[in-house]
Amino acid sequence: MSTVLVIGGTGLIGRAVAAEAVRRGHAVRSLSRRVPASGAAEYVEGVDYRECDLYKSKPGEIDAHLDGVDAVIDCVNGVSHVAQAVFRVSAAQLTDAAMRANISRAVVVSDVGCDQSDFAYYEAKTDQEGVYLDSRIPTTVVRFTVLYEQMLEHVTTAARYRIIPTSSRARLQPIDVADIAPLIVDAIDDEGEDTIRSYGGPEIGTVREFTQQWLQYTGRSALLLPVPLITAIGRYLRSGVNLAPNSRAGTITWQQWLAQSGTPPQASASCAGDPHAPRTA
Ligand SMILES: NC(=O)c1ccc[n+]([C@@H]2O[C@H](COP(=O)([O-])OP(=O)(O)OC[C@H]3O[C@@H](n4cnc5c(N)ncnc54)[C@H](OP(=O)(O)O)[C@@H]3O)[C@@H](O)[C@H]2O)c1
Repeated sequence: MSTVLVIGGTGLIGRAVAAEAVRRGHAVRSLSRRVPASGAAEYVEGVDYRECDLYKSKPGEIDAHLDGVDAVIDCVNGVSHVAQAVFRVSAAQLTDAAMRANISRAVVVSDVGCDQSDFAYYEAKTDQEGVYLDSRIPTTVVRFTVLYEQMLEHVTTAARYRIIPTSSRARLQPIDVADIAPLIVDAIDDEGEDTIRSYGGPEIGTVREFTQQWLQYTGRSALLLPVPLITAIGRYLRSGVNLAPNSRAGTITWQQWLAQSGTPPQASASCAGDPHAPRTA
């Protein structure tokens, strides 16, 4: 049994990782700005939740949370441009403190192909990886493709306006968080040199194909608007560096995930003249 500190243990990936580590018998601590109430969706029984803003923490403040810790799993996230600074700042603070605590392994959760993108978010992720890899702490970086939750958020948000930006040239290889949590916890047992691994889901398809499957599944109607892939994120998706075709670790497909996630399926099969039938451009 190890003592594991999960950074961002209340987040989408962090809470699945914390649950998996508890299930394996590890003692688990979580650091985040907010501590969840018992019974909240992000609360995992058995986790020692601690409050700490890693962006604003003072030097030395993190040390107390690393006392007795064997491995750190970093699942922090910063979505807005300003919040992305948390990747660099927290990695520097954590590696300094982890050196003093003599931890045996750091595991950094990251994104497939981030080091080959000029999208600001991925540049910040690459910097975060670099801080760990340049430190003297043995580090495993585990990179994943996009999660189904993120795809669902994209289509449901856009579908409110009945127009979903899409592309037949951008490909995705989405994966379920339940498939990635065990791979992340496995990495705390890595020994020796720093390593970077990439994993993706079981299917590769275009953004348009995945969107059409969602429309078909839900029976919703929306215009699929082709968008030019000229922005930094567009270039990233068009280039294919976001895929891990040789490391299909995920087992759960988009259709299976939709069924498991409680996404309501269409009441009945659509037919000609059905006003809710998928409408595509
Ligand atoms: N989501 C995806 O599709 C996906 C796919 C592949 C890889 N990843 C990688 O996985 C990582 C985690 O993603 P996620 O989707 O799980 O993120 P998330 O759901 O947004 O969770 C982020 C976590 O970080 C904590 N956090 C944020 N700012 C903090 C701060 N200043 N101090 C302390 N804690 C802070 C949050 O808690 P508080 O807000 O309470 O502080 C939360 O626990 C990301 O870095 C991303 O690169 C994500």
